[in-house]
Amino acid sequence: MTDIILSAQNVSKEFLFPHSILARIRGEPPRAVHALNGVSLDIAKGETLGIVGESGCGKSTLARCLVRLHETDGGRIMFEGADVSHLQGPARRTFNRRVQMIFQDPYSSLNPRMTVRQILSEALRVHRMRPAAQIDARIAELLDLVRLSPDAANRYPHEFSGGQRQRIGIARALSVEPEVLVADELVSALDVSVQAQVVNLLLELQDRLHLTVVFVAHDLRLVRHISHRVAVMYLGTVVENGPTAEIFAHPNHPYTNALLRAAPEVNPTRRTRTVAARGELPSPINLPSGCLFHTRCPHAMDRCRTEVPVLRAFGKNHVAACHLDTFDPTVTKDTK
Ligand SMILES: Nc1ncnc2c1ncn2[C@@H]1O[C@H](COP(=O)(O)OP(=O)(O)OP(=O)(O)O)[C@@H](O)[C@H]1O
Ligand code: SF4
Ligand SMILES: [Mg+2]
Repeated sequence: MTDIILSAQNVSKEFLFPHSILARIRGEPPRAVHALNGVSLDIAKGETLGIVGESGCGKSTLARCLVRLHETDGGRIMFEGADVSHLQGPARRTFNRRVQMIFQDPYSSLNPRMTVRQILSEALRVHRMRPAAQIDARIAELLDLVRLSPDAANRYPHEFSGGQRQRIGIARALSVEPEVLVADELVSALDVSVQAQVVNLLLELQDRLHLTVVFVAHDLRLVRHISHRVAVMYLGTVVENGPTAEIFAHPNHPYTNALLRAAPEVNPTRRTRTVAARGELPSPINLPSGCLFHTRCPHAMDRCRTEVPVLRAFGKNHVAACHLDTFDPTVTKDTK
């Protein structure tokens, strides 16, 4: 069995709407966005797990729960076999160091009034990574690692291009020597040519530093290129999780199938980003009963409207949450 470094076990997360006085007088219950609804997944040491799904399906919320930027409402986040959902004090700081997040827009997460040297030395000092005398040398090493010239240390974030700023964000994350990097839409804001450079740098660093990477992205082509495994999310649940090649060649969940068939990056006959399945994505405020996908699934049966499918094995390290053992992948929203 591969070493599992990080897991989500039945994780739920709600965002409550403000409960207005009028609503309270009317006796209406508080409303909530059910962003995560029992997410379970394991991330093996050294692998890259891609997380995909339509906008609003909870990818960023899950990423934030994994690094504990969000508290979960239910379930557990496990790191090296221990529940870290409620860690506090020094143990929490250690977890925060070992599991780092890199954001889509490094510009908003890099202090514009600090030079790169100040940004990196702050990270090194907060976690006491090096004695003061060694900090400059470590900064030079980090810049070299992300292929920025040594003089970058004396410049401010606005003096860099988007791709270079993303490299600074990566250098800052790496400065504290993490084991896991959680990258949420790391390159979505960059030009395609720059995307490839940053993604290839990430692949190289992962190999060199034996990092575990969680790669959240819209772009299925990129996810296919970078990930060993892929988790597909729908309405705050993981509906399928398996080796990348299997997921792309033989999806076992009708939603995965619809998502891949609709993606212009994977299916060249599609010229624009189309919705994955027929019908509208249900609101995460009022979730459908039974299988969350039943309102859009071309294979839905009576059972799907009442019975929640659980993740079950469809191969080695490959699970999907569907009542069907097989389905015709050519039947999609367009054909039914
Ligand atoms: N801080 C918040 N307050 C209220 N609702 C939120 C908050 N963060 C996320 N949500 C809601 O939770 C759901 C999941 O959002 P999330 O950002 O995790 O989706 P996503 O898959 O990352 O989408 P995208 O692909 O657009 O980035 C959405 O309905 C979103 O509106
Ligand atoms: S459980 Fe039913 S509705 Fe859900 S994906 Fe499978 S066939 Fe479709
Ligand atoms: Mg997001």
